[in-house]
Amino acid sequence: MPKKQERDLTDVLLSSQKKYKPSKKIIKEANVKDYEKTLKQAAKDPVKFWEEAASELSWFKPWEKVFDDSKKPFFKWFTGGKCNLAYNALDRHIETKTKKRTAILWEDEIGRTRKYTYQQLYWEVNKLVNALRGIGVKKGDRVAIYMPNIPEIATAMLACAKIGAMHSVVYAGFSSKALADRINDARAKVLFTADGSFRRGKIVDLKSITDDAIKETKSIKKVIVVKNNNAKIKFNKRLDVWYHDFIKGQPVEAKCAKMDAEDPAFVLYTSGTTSKPKGVVHVHGGYPVGVLRTIKWVFDLRGDEVFWCTADPGWITGHSYIIYGPLLAGITTLMYEGVPDIPKPDRIWKVVEKYKVNVLYTAPTLIRAMMRYGAEWPAKHKMASLRILGSVGEPINPEAWKWYYRYVGKNRCPIMDTWWQTETGMNMITPLPAASLKAGSACKPFPGIIADVVDKKGKQVPVGKGGYLVIRNQWPSMIRTIFNNPKRYIKTYWGQIKGVYFAGDVAFKDKDGYFWIQGRTDDVLKIAGHRIGTAEVESAFVSHKAVVEAAVIGVPDEVKGEVIKTFVILKEGFKPTDDLKIELKKHVRKTLGPVAVIKDIAFLDKLPKTRSGKIMRRVLKAKELGQELGDTSAMVN
Ligand code: WTA
Repeated sequence: MPKKQERDLTDVLLSSQKKYKPSKKIIKEANVKDYEKTLKQAAKDPVKFWEEAASELSWFKPWEKVFDDSKKPFFKWFTGGKCNLAYNALDRHIETKTKKRTAILWEDEIGRTRKYTYQQLYWEVNKLVNALRGIGVKKGDRVAIYMPNIPEIATAMLACAKIGAMHSVVYAGFSSKALADRINDARAKVLFTADGSFRRGKIVDLKSITDDAIKETKSIKKVIVVKNNNAKIKFNKRLDVWYHDFIKGQPVEAKCAKMDAEDPAFVLYTSGTTSKPKGVVHVHGGYPVGVLRTIKWVFDLRGDEVFWCTADPGWITGHSYIIYGPLLAGITTLMYEGVPDIPKPDRIWKVVEKYKVNVLYTAPTLIRAMMRYGAEWPAKHKMASLRILGSVGEPINPEAWKWYYRYVGKNRCPIMDTWWQTETGMNMITPLPAASLKAGSACKPFPGIIADVVDKKGKQVPVGKGGYLVIRNQWPSMIRTIFNNPKRYIKTYWGQIKGVYFAGDVAFKDKDGYFWIQGRTDDVLKIAGHRIGTAEVESAFVSHKAVVEAAVIGVPDEVKGEVIKTFVILKEGFKPTDDLKIELKKHVRKTLGPVAVIKDIAFLDKLPKTRSGKIMRRVLKAKELGQELGDTSAMVN
């Protein structure tokens, strides 16, 4: 076993002993003061727990039934109820004094800022609703959004939800091909984009990427372009319209669609084990119930707060905790378009200080990157406003946890390590501020969630032993189906271990019932917290003329958590040169987008395979890491 892994493991074992107890102040201020009691109470009747949570939202018509499992695994929540996701996130605040509060604070890398109160955001969204209705967007349509982290991504999402059209946000680090595939799968009618975005001082030319994508699609009737940085773009008069022209003169009031609780609100594509991403569907009723309850309890929100989630709206973390969560709770969300270390490594801490951020929710990869720069950078800034810290996206190693705790939270702010997924919609395994913490553990399931660690047959494994992470019950903000592919929904999540939701992660529980998540069991990678399928990367390699076959594995990396290593078999006539490696890396970047950074390529003559022809990535990985090969009886070569 390599040295780093050995150290990490010892670290984990030691961490499982030490507990970080919440301070009296934290408990006094907590929304949930008695952690264990609340867990126990919710466990007695989770459906009742979620019903109570749903009563915090506004309903046009109350539900008739809280939970319906008559068509398993197509579970339903709050059936008969009428509501709207955008109404709950925005419209209802206009009837209260929240309308005067700042909804969105925005800053970009070059220091430009903007600010919207709830009232202003409401007007902006309504103008867009009217303009979209004007071009025929209606309930049930799909709208693709390919934008940077700017306020208009929020107005676009909210406007769709208000109309009852499903938004499909595609992360702006994906390529034109990836965007086209997602537009085609959803048959999106309209596409939102921007002329460009700033990243590390450079302009990312989003518009030309969307232009390329449009060539591969037939369904898009209109492209709405935000002028974000005056980049020179090609403007197609038939198809394109500037966002500001599009909403010009539109009324500031608009009718809100009354949706059934189970009507789909959005689709968000995520990677699975095949090369085709899955369109995860979330609904108007249950999704906000889970998101609001978690953001309030996990981050202890109250009143006038500034919440900064450093993710991108293109991922579920951004959907739930940059856009919908903070707005559902009526607080201020901070959107920062850029990287955390430009112009200097303390940009992130500067932003915390400047906006008096109360809750900072970020990813282990970012913490590790900041750790490398050193503790002197956060030390330069007063961050007294910080109360609670959060982590999400991948397991946080105890070393990074402790650094975050000490140098960012100054030993004062509890860290909420939240385990969850695109499919779960909300935080699932996470402490609450009043819980005792262990560095590197996601603590216990959120109240109303029953999680477990089991073997292949679904039997609980003993304490300290690794197994599959599963959820035994259902919850309101869970995935409803895979867009256009209900069979894949059944097979992926409910077909692996009988009767439970299969998450695809491995974990163990310690003697106190704390969960330690160890990573994916399937062929899904987590590169700097971003979810990418090995099959997607492999198919990008194989689309190059020199490649016959490719196998992708994730290898541990100090900062990114995991990086991609690829084993490639070349076609006859192609030489394994360094130039070819560079060309292949470029090709994959073009095919998949900058999210897929290839660290290393090795040329092989053959790949280890099973009799049925499946590549044994596990064997490649074990060899790469110098570990035991394990059971290789199925291997033919
Ligand atoms: C991983 C992101 C350990 C996990 C919200 C999961 C985590 C996948 C954590 C989902 C965490 C997320 N500790 N692992 N706190 N949070 N993961 O869909 O492997 O992009 O299955 O959702 O991220 O990734 P997704």
